[in-house]
Amino acid sequence: MENSINIFEREEEFLLQTYKRIPIKISHGEGVYLFSEDGKKYLDFFSGLAVNALGYGNKKIIQAIEEQVKKFIHLSNYYINSPQIQFAERLVKYSGLSKVFFTNSGTEAIEASLKLIRRYFGPEKSIITFSNAFHGRTYGSLSLSGKEKYKKYFSPLLPNIIQLEFNEVELLEKYVTENTAAIYMEIIQGEGGIHIVSTQFVEKIDELRNKFGFALVADEVQSGIGRTGKPFAYQHHSIEPDLVIVAKAIGGGLPLGALITNKKYDNVFQQGDHGSTFGGNPVACAAGLEVVYEVFENELMKNVAVLGNYFKSELNLVHKKYPDKIVDVRGLGFMIGVELRKSCASLVDKFREKGILVNCTNENVLRILPPLISTKENIDYFINIFSEILSENE
Ligand SMILES: Cc1ncc(COP(=O)(O)O)c(C=O)c1O
Repeated sequence: MENSINIFEREEEFLLQTYKRIPIKISHGEGVYLFSEDGKKYLDFFSGLAVNALGYGNKKIIQAIEEQVKKFIHLSNYYINSPQIQFAERLVKYSGLSKVFFTNSGTEAIEASLKLIRRYFGPEKSIITFSNAFHGRTYGSLSLSGKEKYKKYFSPLLPNIIQLEFNEVELLEKYVTENTAAIYMEIIQGEGGIHIVSTQFVEKIDELRNKFGFALVADEVQSGIGRTGKPFAYQHHSIEPDLVIVAKAIGGGLPLGALITNKKYDNVFQQGDHGSTFGGNPVACAAGLEVVYEVFENELMKNVAVLGNYFKSELNLVHKKYPDKIVDVRGLGFMIGVELRKSCASLVDKFREKGILVNCTNENVLRILPPLISTKENIDYFINIFSEILSENE
C-alpha cells in the first residue's frame, strides 16, 4: 500500500512526461470492466485503444500464454517457432494476402513497409498520405502523419511524402502519377476522428493503381482484427491492398505487430534486409492465435457487425435528440465516433465519474472502441449514461 501512496507524483518524478494520465489507479480487469483500487467499477469502452478485443482476464488467452511460457518465452528469430507460423497462416488466410513479417508494434510494421517500398521502388518516387492520417510515432511513420501537431518539433522528416486531403477524389487524379511509389491509407481513420474512406475514393485509388502500379498500403492497426465487423476494414470495399499493417489487438494484449504482403511484394526483402529481436515473440503469437480464433472463427466478428449497427442506430437517436450538441455519428462495427459541437475532454471526465471509460480524439470526437465481447446490455448502459450526461445543463 505504501507504494501506491502518491503514485501520480512518483510517476511525474521518474517518467518522461509524454502521457496525460487518467487520474485513476486500476487494480484489475474482468471481461468488459476495469476496477480501481478504491473499488469503483468502470465499463471500458476504450479497450486499451482497441487492444483488448476479448476484454480482460480471458481464460483462453491466459492458458495459451501459460502453456507457451512453460515451453520458451523467447527464441531468437534464428529459430523457427511454431506459434509464429500458425499465426502467420491465419493472417494470410483471413487477409487473402501472401506472407507476413512480425514486429512488436504498429509503428514498427509501418517502418518495415517503408523499407520494403524503398527497396522495391528505389529512392526517388514519392509516397502519398492523407490529412488527419495517423501511422505511429517513429520517424518514418511520423513522416506519414497528417497531423502537424505531432510533427512540428521533429523535422527533418522523410522526404518525398505528399499529403493530400482525405476523400478528395480530384486531388488523387492530380497528384498520383507514375512517380508514386505508394499510397498509405487508414480505411477508417482512428486517431484522426473516425473518418471512413468513401467508396468513390477507394475506387479511384484502385483505378490509378492499375494505371501506375504503385503499392496500396492499408493501415489496419486500429481497424483490423474484426473491429469493424469484418476481419479487416478494407473488406468492406472491393479492393485488395498490396500491403496490410496490423497490430494492437493481434497480440491479445502482448506487443505484436505485422506487415502482411500480397504476392507481388512477398519476395522483395532478402535475408538480412530486415529483422527484429523480439518481433513475432512466441508468447505474443500464442495469445494472438486465441484472439483470431475467437474473432474470426467463433462468431464474435458477426456479433460485432450486428451490435455495431445497433449501437450506431441508438447513437443516431441520441443525435436526433441533441442536434445542438452532436454534429455527427459515424463508424463501422465497434469503431465509432461521435463528433460534438465542442471539445469532448469534459464529457470524457463526466463519463468516467459515471463509471464509463471512453476516449476523446481530434479535440471533439468521442472515440468509442468497446471490447469486441461487449453485449447489447453494455451498449444500452452506455446510451443511458450518454443521454443522462447530455440532458444535464451546462
Ligand atoms: C492507424 C494506426 N497506425 C499506427 C499506429 C501505431 O501503432 P503503435 O502504437 O502500436 O506503434 C496506431 C496507433 O494508435 C494507429 O492507430
